[in-house]
Amino acid sequence: MRRNSVYIETYGCQMNAADTELMLGILQNQGYEIAKDAKDADVVLLNTCSIRENAEQRIYGRLGNFKAIKTEKPDLVVGILGCMAERLRKDLIEEKKIVDLVVGPDEYRRLPELIDVAFNGEKGIGVKLSRTETYDDIIPYREDGLQAWISVMRGCDKFCTFCVVPFTRGRERSRALDSVVNEVKLLSKRGFKEITMLGQNVNSYLDNGNDFADLLAACAVIDRKIRIRFTTSHPQDLSDKLLYTIAEHKNICNYIHLPVQSGSNRILELMNRTYTIENYLSLINRARKIIPGVSFSTDIISGFPTETYEDHVMTLDIMRKVKYDGAYMFKYSPREGTKSFKMNDDVSEEIKTKRLQEIIQLQQQISYEVNQGLLGKEEIILVEGLSRKSEQFLAGRTDGNKVVIFPFKDNIKEGSYIKVKINRATSATLFGEFAGFAETHNDDFALTA
Ligand code: 5AD
Ligand code: SF4
Repeated sequence: MRRNSVYIETYGCQMNAADTELMLGILQNQGYEIAKDAKDADVVLLNTCSIRENAEQRIYGRLGNFKAIKTEKPDLVVGILGCMAERLRKDLIEEKKIVDLVVGPDEYRRLPELIDVAFNGEKGIGVKLSRTETYDDIIPYREDGLQAWISVMRGCDKFCTFCVVPFTRGRERSRALDSVVNEVKLLSKRGFKEITMLGQNVNSYLDNGNDFADLLAACAVIDRKIRIRFTTSHPQDLSDKLLYTIAEHKNICNYIHLPVQSGSNRILELMNRTYTIENYLSLINRARKIIPGVSFSTDIISGFPTETYEDHVMTLDIMRKVKYDGAYMFKYSPREGTKSFKMNDDVSEEIKTKRLQEIIQLQQQISYEVNQGLLGKEEIILVEGLSRKSEQFLAGRTDGNKVVIFPFKDNIKEGSYIKVKINRATSATLFGEFAGFAETHNDDFALTA
């Protein structure tokens, strides 16, 4: 029997989703078929995340399922890819014996070879980190659609004290500008309409003197019907040049994910975030001046070691000041190997939970208020298809990444840009009415491509 079908299950961030496509590209090149379901595959790979303890617990749970499947299907190759592979290689191979394959983020090129090792009954292990690997020349496997990811840089050199990423994904390195540009051209030919440029810290992108602003500008002119997003930005590296580039190109979304993590300068210093709340707020104000109407989202950690009630109140305060459109909010989770792991995790679980709930509640209220401010206004959206809840409605997304629901019309096609007048809003969703077609991403927009 030929053993040639592979299934990859993806956990964690968008970088992992992009890496999965990369690996499927590599495997397809080697003649593998891509299975839609784990039960149809000869090789099952979990692309994993280590960012918090509960992410790893979930994946361990899933591994347990495969252990059961493997007793019935002993030839099945089960592998762990990504951040957990890098962090827990020994534990996975020696103690949780069900894993045949452990491959970290910089060794994906060797996947076909390592799968062969596993088929031969040995353990396939590749966990070296690289200073140069960017997978520049590999074309990822992508299903047709509207939205695509492109990872433009890998790794992180910031060493926030809570974060495991610099250890699991290694040092920062950027892809060549030309290779990213070529990938955007390919996606344009295939009819994609939205591209998200990915990196743990995209603002430190650098290739031959071209910085991230240069990269965005080079990609934006390729196809004005493609709108471009990017994530994640570190406040330290978000330059005015980048802000002006976003303002200048209407198809670069007016949306910045700018993790603040905490509202307390004392905690920010313990986190090694390298900015103060005052710096952060002045950056937000500068961005709002340069890009009128820009939206912000953020990441917040509650219960970092030594966080007092006063520190927590400062976090609530920065949220009120910035009025984020959205936030990803987490309880602090100690990660072995990081600097903060050596600090005493002294905020009790109960208090972490209580503070997190307050943060979530406040964000809901802020999102609701921000969205109420859009009532009566027209937004340009990219139509994504039928709404999830009803065939009588269509759904799309604004420049600021908000979902908009509006009544179905059969002349409105997926992938087109339209104007919608907003007439109702919750904290999570906008509702509106069709108000006309938009020629491109934005009406006042000269087609230059
Ligand atoms: N505990 C809780 N949240 C974390 N993050 C990163 N590491 C941790 C941790 N140890 C959060 C940060 C980061 C986001 C991707 O995950 O907010 O911005
Ligand atoms: Fe982790 Fe900080 Fe790097 Fe983000 S910037 S990946 S939080 S170390």
